Amino acid sequence: MNTSYPQSSFSTDAAAIDGFIDLVCSGFENPEGITGTVQVDIPEYPEGGFLVHFAGKAGIERGKSSLNADTTVTIPIATVHRIFAEFETLDWRDPEIIGTIRFAGNLALANHLAKCCLRPSDQTVARFNRAGRLHARKGYRELAVLEKLHQPTQRQILEAMDEGRPVIIAGLEPEPPCRDWTLERLVERYADAVVRVRSANQRQTMAEFVAELQAFMARPHDEIIEGFVKPYTEGAALPEEMWPDFGPLFFEREDFIPPQLWLGAVPTHVPTSSLHRDPLTGFLLQVIGRKRLDLYSADQAELLYPMKAYNNYQPCWFKPEKPDYATYPKAKDAEYLSITLNPGELLVQPAGWFHQVHAIDSPNMSVSYFWRY
Ligand SMILES: [Fe+2]
Repeated sequence: MNTSYPQSSFSTDAAAIDGFIDLVCSGFENPEGITGTVQVDIPEYPEGGFLVHFAGKAGIERGKSSLNADTTVTIPIATVHRIFAEFETLDWRDPEIIGTIRFAGNLALANHLAKCCLRPSDQTVARFNRAGRLHARKGYRELAVLEKLHQPTQRQILEAMDEGRPVIIAGLEPEPPCRDWTLERLVERYADAVVRVRSANQRQTMAEFVAELQAFMARPHDEIIEGFVKPYTEGAALPEEMWPDFGPLFFEREDFIPPQLWLGAVPTHVPTSSLHRDPLTGFLLQVIGRKRLDLYSADQAELLYPMKAYNNYQPCWFKPEKPDYATYPKAKDAEYLSITLNPGELLVQPAGWFHQVHAIDSPNMSVSYFWRY
């Protein structure tokens, strides 16, 4: 738990609103100098609403209702309470949360504000600090090649994890479940599996998602512009009916939190996941197409401008695909190791490594398992 924010103190509605404002203000960062205003309305408490001005820090005007705000966000008090109860684990994509909130206007501003409300647990912070010290001691910043283990033993994998050293596992036997998968075969086998949940009442099955994917891939490439909504499942829960076909390998299912699915088509120059790090060790099984991962050791955190408000993963302000060295000058000194993950290979990435992921081929599919411990 994050001891800076005792959740028990948000027991009344008024305290929850105060605490919410405090989270927004203390988690606010704005290195890119985005400007604008967001009106936050809480329908049960018309006086409890407030206006946020984006500037060097978040300026708050309480009890204010502005019809001219760039963005209006309407959050029921029950959701405000839930944000506090869960800020260490909250996933804004959860339809039970996002489905209760109404947005109007500039969504980028609302998105920025939503990020401010997240906080890491003390355990996550401790893990990242530990990884930073370990990577510095091991000199991983200079790591030039990743070891590829051919049909390793459990023990070899555990040793690498213990040393905080990523490894690629190849030669998976017996018959890797990840071999020879295609979109057609996925639809044949899992047509009705729910692969993406967009809101409280919008669900997409494998058959529907693959149809969208194929339509997207049939479009001429030059129609794909920046800011498009990529047909990608973004780590949605792997449908349970798919679990038997997609690992986990080497260890028991109970050793991992529930698996995630990364299926879609994304142009090579657009990251499928932008630069971030995870507090748990990730096992990434590549199923269709190749992925490229650029890995940065944890001791380089200061060079990558990680966000201070985060929970399940820590994104960076610095974007390697569009490097802005005027705003993020230290990033010039960051060093990374670029690896290609082929279908049938498994990457074991110990906690704390920063990584950015690109799909070399589309369609592309991976399944990730995070080590529970
Ligand atoms: Fe990740």
